[in-house]
Amino acid sequence: MAEKAKLADSPVKTPKRKKPEVVPEPRLKICFIGSECYPFVKTGGLGDVMYALPRALLKQNCDVRVIMPHYMCIPQALRRTLKFRGEFMMDLCADGTRFYVGLLETELDGITYYFIDNEEFFGWGNPYTDLVKDIPKYCFFDKAALAVLNYLEWIPDVIHCHDWQTGLVPAYLRTLFSTSPVGRAKSMITIHNLRFQGVYNIPTIQYWSGLPGYAFDYTTMKQGYEDANMFKGGLAYANAITTVSRTYAEEIQTPFYGDGLDAHLRHLSGKLHGIVNGIDVELWNPRTDHDLKSNYSYRTVLKYKPENKRALQKRLGLEQDDGKFVIGLVSRLTDQKGLDLVNAVLPEILDGNTQLVLLGSGEARYEDAFRACAAAHPDCVSATIAYADDLSHQIYAGADAFLVPSLFEPCGLTQLIAMHYGTVPIVRETGGLKDTVLPYNAFTAEGNGFTFDRYEAPLLLDAVERARKLYFTDRERWNGILVRDMKKDVSWQNSARQYRELYMQLT
Ligand code: ADP
Ligand code: GLC
Repeated sequence: MAEKAKLADSPVKTPKRKKPEVVPEPRLKICFIGSECYPFVKTGGLGDVMYALPRALLKQNCDVRVIMPHYMCIPQALRRTLKFRGEFMMDLCADGTRFYVGLLETELDGITYYFIDNEEFFGWGNPYTDLVKDIPKYCFFDKAALAVLNYLEWIPDVIHCHDWQTGLVPAYLRTLFSTSPVGRAKSMITIHNLRFQGVYNIPTIQYWSGLPGYAFDYTTMKQGYEDANMFKGGLAYANAITTVSRTYAEEIQTPFYGDGLDAHLRHLSGKLHGIVNGIDVELWNPRTDHDLKSNYSYRTVLKYKPENKRALQKRLGLEQDDGKFVIGLVSRLTDQKGLDLVNAVLPEILDGNTQLVLLGSGEARYEDAFRACAAAHPDCVSATIAYADDLSHQIYAGADAFLVPSLFEPCGLTQLIAMHYGTVPIVRETGGLKDTVLPYNAFTAEGNGFTFDRYEAPLLLDAVERARKLYFTDRERWNGILVRDMKKDVSWQNSARQYRELYMQLT
């Protein structure tokens, strides 16, 4: 009898077989067009998405190719890998002025990348400079991207555009290119950030784009009395619009978040969809990440996080003490990111047991404020005013908590990366932050992080204090959150499926 019970308690283990992934049919041809793409150029989350989503779509049986500008700032080592693919002249402006279009190509892990070359537009500086230069630059890029597809005789089922810089692509597709081969393609545009729209006076955009007069009426590009809005045009002409979270899809239909386009978006809401971003879990993988002192999984995080924390403190010259509560912040320093709130409550955040580690660059007023704060509190505040990929990985791994108190946040990737690295997010409930961070519930011990709703400094402080209190008084529950966060699915798989479904509906 005892023998029987023993057997029943320890069933014979058969090795778990992974269900083979069903490859959806038919194979779709998708062309991504965007102004930045990791590892070539990245200034923020758009660069991450342009890298990661095509890879996830590859697994959904999509032949994805990416078109981006051949900027001078692409690292030399990568520039050397690009192969010359062809060249032609293209007329761009209303007066027929012609420009050189060079085409370079490379392949990375099954994705083909095309680079549009023209030194006059892309031969210097960062991707984005000021509108005076950026408007002609992206008029050229958008038209050249479509001309390249005709040149290559590769006609995608769907052309997937990203942000205002590609707003003219859907407009060209339905006007000057409608009777050319690429005119068969459908277009989708994704709103990563509605704050930037590409607005300039009509004569300038009409001159550079060469688009017909009817593309500049109120239902398409016209805004106010004399301006044209490239993003507005893209939204009007595209067959589908997506944005990077459900909540942001709702928010942008209201005046505060709509940045002047809320009425336009309400009008177009029938073709507007919110699909939340993921992260590339191979690129962001604490088990294999070469930038970390010690690699870990959700099983070993509790053992190895302290080592990563001490390594981070050492690198940044902070007091090396893994008993401190370390808060990380990696961000563009702009008013979008809620830094005014952080500055307002910094003295209260620094309670003697807490360290703040900031990495970011952007507006001088924030850079100066954080530099001054670090100089005043060298033991407990570190402010690295730079763009530093390796340090960002070390912060995601070494911090205990991660701040994202944004004024608005279409999706936000940093909270997803933080969770994946076992670092508990403290976020404002807006956009994708609201959709991806379930607030911790002290009664049920569920949730992924600490949240606050209104954009008010005392509410941020309250969230930080709730997190800190749990960290210092109930480590078991705190550890429960971080292990849960590491197990959470933040990959692209589900969202890539949703994109594929939308592409199918369009074709
Ligand atoms: P946004 O696109 O609005 O800047 P996201 O959260 O979507 O915000 O994406 C930001 C991306 O840029 C993340 O991959 C983050 O790690 C990275 N990042 C932001 N600032 C820096 C920095 N100073 N150094 C390194 N990486 C940064
Ligand atoms: C934008 C948004 C950010 C989003 C990213 C990628 O830059 O500010 O919230 O995660 O694009 O979609």
